[in-house]
Amino acid sequence: MDRSVGLKNRQNKNVLGINAPGINEQDINEQDIHEREISRRESMDSALDISVRTRLDISVRTRLDISVRGCNVYFGTFQALKNVDVHMCEHEVTALIGPSGCGKSTFIKTLNRMNDLVENCRITGDIYIGGQNIYARETDVALLRKNTGMVFQKPNPFPMSVYDNIAFAPRTFGIKKKKLLDGVVERSLKQAGLWDEVKDRLRKNAMELSGGQQQRLCIARALAAEPKVLLMDEPTSALDPISTGTIEELINALKTDYTIVIVTHNMQQATRISDQTAFFLLGEVIECDRTETLFSNPKNKRTENYITGRFG
Ligand SMILES: Nc1ncnc2c1ncn2[C@@H]1O[C@H](COP(=O)(O)OP(=O)(O)OP(=O)(O)O)[C@@H](O)[C@H]1O
Ligand SMILES: [Mg+2]
Repeated sequence: MDRSVGLKNRQNKNVLGINAPGINEQDINEQDIHEREISRRESMDSALDISVRTRLDISVRTRLDISVRGCNVYFGTFQALKNVDVHMCEHEVTALIGPSGCGKSTFIKTLNRMNDLVENCRITGDIYIGGQNIYARETDVALLRKNTGMVFQKPNPFPMSVYDNIAFAPRTFGIKKKKLLDGVVERSLKQAGLWDEVKDRLRKNAMELSGGQQQRLCIARALAAEPKVLLMDEPTSALDPISTGTIEELINALKTDYTIVIVTHNMQQATRISDQTAFFLLGEVIECDRTETLFSNPKNKRTENYITGRFG
C-alpha cells in the first residue's frame, strides 16, 4: 500500500473520514507524526514477521526423516535404552509399542532432547532429524523443540485463554500482529478439529474445556509452532472412543505435512494409524517393520508373544 497517498487524503479528515474544517496545522503535523509512527511500527512488525518466517523456513528440508543409531540412554547407572537403531520416514506415522517401563517415553523424549532436562541422564549414539545431528554442539535446542512438537498423555493446557494457549509459541517467536496471530489460532484449531467447538469461546480459560478438547487444544498448540515432527506420547489413552477417533483422523490427515511418532498401548490403534511399528522390550528395539508385516508376520517370537497378548 502507498502510505503517502493515505496520509495526503487523510490530512483534513478525522478518523471516520469526514471533513474536519476546524483542524489546525499543528494537529495535522501531530497526526502525520502519529501516522508515520504507526506506519513505521507496522513495517517493523512485518519485517520481523518475515524474518521470523525466514528463520523458521530455514528448517524446512526436503528430507525430514529421523534416524536413530546406536542410542543408549542412562539414568545414573540404570540403562533405559540399549543400542537402539530406528529409522522413521518422513510423512509417515511410526508407532512405538511395548510393555510398561520398556523405554518408549524415554525414546520419544530423546528426539527433542527433553531428557537433557533430567539430572543424571546420559545419552550416547547419534540421532539425525532431517540429516542434522540433533545432539551436535551447535544445535539450537529451542529451535529443535519448536520443530519437534510434543503432545503428552495428560493434556497440559496453560492456565490462560484458549486463544493465548495457541498464540503462545508464535508470540514467543516474535509474531505480534493481531491479524497474523488470529490466522494462526484459527488455522491451528481447525487442523486439530477443535475450531467449531471453541470459536465462540476463544477468550475462555482453556482449563474449562473437556479432557478431549484439552488434548486437541494441546495438539493445536503444538501445531501453532509450525513443527516438522510431531511426537505424541499416548495422546489418546485418557480419551473416550469418539475423541480418540477424532485424534486418529487428525493424525492421518497431518501425516502429509509432518513426520509423526506416537507411543501407544493400543494395538488396534497402532494398526489403524501407523505405517511402521517398533516393538520395545526392556530398553531394546526387538523388531521394527511395516505395521502390517509386524502384526501379521512378526519375525521375533517375543514380538509375537506381545502382540498376541501372551505377555505385557
Ligand atoms: N527420570 C528418570 N530417572 C530415572 N529412571 C527413569 C527416568 N525416566 C524413566 N526412567 C526409567 O526408565 C525406564 C523406561 O521408562 P519409560 O518411562 O521410558 O517407560 P515407558 O515404556 O514409557 O513406560 P509406560 O508404558 O509405563 O509409560 C523405566 O525403568 C523408568 O523407571
Ligand atoms: Mg511412557
